Amino acid sequence: MPTKITRIYRPTPTNLRRLAARLAGGGLVAVPSETVYGLAADALNPNACKAIFTAKGRPANDPLIVHIAHLRQLAELATDFPPEAKALANAFWPGPLTLVLRKTAAVPDIVTSGLPSVAVRMPAHPLFRKLIQLSGRPLAAPSANPFGYISPTTALHVKNGLSGHIAAILDGGPCPVGVESTIIDLRNPAKPVLLRPGGIPVEALASTLGRPVKVLQSRLHESTRAEAPGMLWKHYSPRTPLVLHEKIPASIWQSLPSGEVVLLQKKPAANLLTSIKAAGACLSWLSESGDTEEVAKNLFDALQRLDREAWTRIHAELAPTKKGLGPAINDRLIRAAAKS
Ligand code: TXA
Ligand code: MG
Repeated sequence: MPTKITRIYRPTPTNLRRLAARLAGGGLVAVPSETVYGLAADALNPNACKAIFTAKGRPANDPLIVHIAHLRQLAELATDFPPEAKALANAFWPGPLTLVLRKTAAVPDIVTSGLPSVAVRMPAHPLFRKLIQLSGRPLAAPSANPFGYISPTTALHVKNGLSGHIAAILDGGPCPVGVESTIIDLRNPAKPVLLRPGGIPVEALASTLGRPVKVLQSRLHESTRAEAPGMLWKHYSPRTPLVLHEKIPASIWQSLPSGEVVLLQKKPAANLLTSIKAAGACLSWLSESGDTEEVAKNLFDALQRLDREAWTRIHAELAPTKKGLGPAINDRLIRAAAKS
């Protein structure tokens, strides 16, 4: 039952202290990060972490990422820090990269869904870092959306999704990266495995490691499910039916039923835009130039907005590139459009 009064806090020093005290006392706070907003709790307090699952309606077999502000916090969470993990942390922390390492006994089972590993990230967002420092705790935080829905990139998205289920949201403005962190499994450092494409391109990880990174792709089968628990295929889903296109065919523009909208990767050229408008089709775009960082930053915000408007169908164009943030963008779009 949604019973809580949900308040959005501005990031004043007093509010930061108040919210850090709430976290240290076992409470939940939705916090801005550079990727998406997270729903944070003391990672070493099992009851606090249990409340995250309840608020989101998240199944217990979907483990949480633990966030730290300093490398010295890692020793309490992970039993070892292999050279490959060090190299990646040096290159990309603080930032949108999550490392899966072997866990210590201090990490509660509820955080890792009973797995012997823990996912750790050092976020770059100054307000998230401040809350970790002020609370003195590593913070477990999944994205702050109801389970299965589109991830939030503004405080208002969080409020729209979790109003009544959580009491406190810290407003840090829109998230600059816009898609979640890249997750890499380093339990066998000689064979790193990409579990989720995200804010750091896989080619950047491979170049830092000096070796290829295995990418888990396609629908997750039983065999991969054990490696990437909780990564259900259908996810990030708007309520409005979503149809994907490699490229929007001309026939869509010419006969788009009223009530349907097209979401492009980039602004169309002036002459195409004129003819689309002449045909009366409704459209929106994710970037001016097609730059994948700009598309990623705007993706969840656009899906949240279109889903709140009364469209009967959204047609979205896939990113045309496997480079940069293209794979992360397409992973989110493909899961958002999946029926099961
Ligand atoms: O950018 C992000 O990573 C955001 C911000 C808030 O940090 N967090 C986020 O959390 O995206 P979430 O819960 O939405 O996704 C975390 C995913 C889980 O679904 C699971 O697939 C993976 O991380 N994960 C967590 N712990 C794991 C573990 N021990 N082994 C393998 N995968 C794990
Ligand atoms: Mg999530």
